[in-house]
This record gives sequence, structure tokens and C-alpha cells, in this order.
Amino acid sequence: MATIGRKTDTWGSRFGFIMAAVGSSVGLGNFWRFPFTAGENGGGAFIIIYLACVLFLGLVVLMAEYSLGRKSGMSAIEGIHSLARAEGKSSNWGAVGWIGSLAAFFILTFYIVISAWVIEFIPQAMSGSFQTFAEQAAAQTAAAQAADPNAAAVTIADISSQNFVKSISDRLLVGFFLVLFIAINVFIVARGVKGGIERAATILMPAFFILLIGIVGFALIEGDAGAAASFLLSPDFSKVGFGTFLAAVGQAFFSLSVGSCLMITYGAYLSRETNIPRSSAIVASADTMVALIAGFAIFPIVFAFGADPAGGPGLFFISLPIAFGQMGEIGTVVGSAFFILALFAALTSSISLMEVAVSWLEERQGVTRPGAAMGIGFVLFMIGMGYVFSGTFIDFADFITGNIMLPLCALLVSIFAGWVLSRKMLESELGEGNVMNMWRFMVRWVVPPALTFILIFGSLDALQGFGMQLPGFLTVLLGPNG
Ligand code: PHE
Repeated sequence: MATIGRKTDTWGSRFGFIMAAVGSSVGLGNFWRFPFTAGENGGGAFIIIYLACVLFLGLVVLMAEYSLGRKSGMSAIEGIHSLARAEGKSSNWGAVGWIGSLAAFFILTFYIVISAWVIEFIPQAMSGSFQTFAEQAAAQTAAAQAADPNAAAVTIADISSQNFVKSISDRLLVGFFLVLFIAINVFIVARGVKGGIERAATILMPAFFILLIGIVGFALIEGDAGAAASFLLSPDFSKVGFGTFLAAVGQAFFSLSVGSCLMITYGAYLSRETNIPRSSAIVASADTMVALIAGFAIFPIVFAFGADPAGGPGLFFISLPIAFGQMGEIGTVVGSAFFILALFAALTSSISLMEVAVSWLEERQGVTRPGAAMGIGFVLFMIGMGYVFSGTFIDFADFITGNIMLPLCALLVSIFAGWVLSRKMLESELGEGNVMNMWRFMVRWVVPPALTFILIFGSLDALQGFGMQLPGFLTVLLGPNG
């Protein structure tokens, strides 16, 4: 292992790094995961807890990850290992890197499948097929009532769900898009950090922001912004239980890309001139703004057309087509733009997830970057196809990785950065002033206890949600269960 040294590739510019880092954070987590998680957890109250998690937990761990990455200059697993050794601490701390890297890998296995669904919805949106939902509903209602005059009417929402189920069970097509998406990822990541990831992000992210502004403007004018605002901004704390906290932490970490050691990996390519606290603040605020904006783009449409805000993972793929279908001709344009936007965001996140594994493999002797990217691509293809053909494990994988593994890795990272490493070690990264003092206080005294508490009670709550009977006193203690 002695041959493993610091990374030689670096980000080309500060702007490029910010685009890549924001690109990693902003992704399906903002569009697909945030709206349905907020919807299922009661809206406003969830969002307040979510914002607190971003500020007091996510941001602190984000700064820790960049610092560990730049200090060590290596992939997460090797980096933590080498820092521990430098401080004369147990090299078992390398396990933290493993948990995060595995979380990143497992997230990627289903992330690519959802991305393939997104790709599949682009041609549907472009061909205006969402506009036919109303006709189909009328036709099916007529057919049903011809057979039985008392049959219930088929609604547009029924048609959209049928469309969603049909789309994702068109396995060959989804499989084809999956291969396409993996190939694009392999192509970009194989070209390296500066020439691949950074280049892709500096093109895709600005395009993304322009599209986003256009769509939000439209949603605010056309949709039911009032209902969305009151849902998003009026907290209902009666629904809040420990499960809500776990969901909020999981969502905050997933969305920020924190707790997968990804930002350690990105930090390893950072130049000395980059200010870590400032960059972290930019990434966290950009990601949070996009999540809120996505909420404001999606919920007005959901409310205007009477869809169910707690519609689960299908919310994105079922409610939005209804909305676009109802808009008439313009729906074709807005709908296509929306799915393309989601695809751009997904791509800049999936390449970052892939980089975690590739950067580690690349440190082995005899493994080249393109070779590593292709190898990972192949394994992803095998597992991704498993999801495509069996279909049902995505929810579970999402829960275990997002709500358990990310917070767990973040907990260990904060203990490592706050308690195991000396203050001196990270002064070169975070300075010696107030920012350091505040960060160090948070990373030692706030993050570890809060995460431990939320992880323990939140998982008990989740077990209960999965139908497991817990002792009575715990049931009482855990409070409402969404
Ligand atoms: N943050 C990305 C998103 O919101 C997903 C992600 C999670 C990326 C963890 C990297 C690490 O879609």
C-alpha cells in the first residue's frame, strides 16, 4: 500500500469545483426524493426540521469531509486510514470510509434506475402523450360503464398511475436507457476529474439553473401557489415523531451528498486556495434553495390538479405528467424541459457517486481510471438490471442507504474529525479563528449526540413502521408514527 500517494489530478478552477460540488448535491434528491418525503411527513413541520438538519448537522459534516479530503489528498478509504495513522490512532478508522463508500455505491445502484425512468419520460413528454390522459380516462370510463352502468369513472390520476406502471414495467426499454445512462457516466468519469466531471458540470449546471428558473416562473403563474405555500409553510407538528427526524436527517444528508464520503473524495482534488467554509456554505445553500424551489415548482401543480401530496416515490412520475397533460400544448414544452432538467441534475450526481468507487480503485496498482470506470459500470449494469426486472426493492434500498448508512457514516466522520484528530491537524484546512472554534464545538458536542439519538430512536420508529411490535413503553415514547 505504500505506493498510494496524493492525487495528482485537481479541479481546474474554483468555479469548476463549485459547479461539480453543487452538481453532486443537486439531483434526484431534490426533485424526486424531497417532494415525496416532505409530502409523506406532513409538509411544513418536516421542512423546518429539514432546514435545521442542513444547518446544524449537514453543513458541519460537509466541512469535515472537505477538510479530511484535502488534508489527506486521497480517496475516502485510504485518506481516513492515513490520517488516523498520522495521528497514531487505530487504522480501523478506515472502516468509516468503507461505510460511506458502500453507501455511495448502493445509492448509485438504484439512482441509475430512477434516472433511466426519467429518460423514459422525456420522449413521452415530447410526444405530448400526457395530453391524451383525459381522453383515455373518458374512453375507459365509457367502456367500463357500457359493461356495467354502475362502474366508477376512471380518473386521469388512474390513467397516469397506469402509465407509470406500464412505463417502468416496459423492462427492455428501461434496460436500454439504463445501459445508455451507465455508458454516459462511464464515459465522463473515465476522462478524469478536470477533463470529465468538472467539464460536464460546468456545462450542465448553468443549463440546469436556466431551465429551473423558467419552470418555476411558469408554475407560480399557472399553478395553485397559495395551496402550495400553505402546505409547505404551515407546520403541522402533530405528525412529528422520531421517524420524522430520521427522515429529515436522511433527506438532508442524501440531498447534500453528505455521509457517503463523497465530499472527502472531491476534497482530495481541492487546491489550497479554495476556502472550505465558504465553499461548504455555497453548496449547502444552493442545494437547499433548489430543494425548496423544486417544492414550489411541484406542489402548486399537484394542488391545482388535485393529486395526492403524500403519493410516495411515484409522486414525481404520476402527478407531474397529469399536470403537464392538463396544460395543453405548452405542457409538452414545460414537461419536456422538466424531465430534461431532472436528467441533467441526476447525471451530475451520479458521476459523483461513481467517482467514490473509481477514485479508490484507481489507487490500486495496475488499475487505470477508464478500466475502473468500466468495471464499476459493468457491476452497476448487473445490479441495476436486477432492480429493473424485479422492481420492488428500491424503497428499501433507499431507506437503508439514505436514512441509516449516511447518518451512520456522518456520525463516525464527525467523531473522527472532532475527537480523534487533533485540532492542529485541521487548522490548515479550516483556519484558527472563530469559524474553527464554532465548527469544532458543533462537530464534537452537537453532531455526534444528535445523530446517535436520532439514529437509535428513528430506526426503532421505522421498525415499528415496518410492522414490528415494540414494547409498549417504547411505542408511547416514540410518539406519532406517520
Ligand atoms: N445528493 C444527490 C442528490 O440529491 C445524491 C447523492 C447522495 C450524491 C450521496 C452523492 C452522494 O440527488
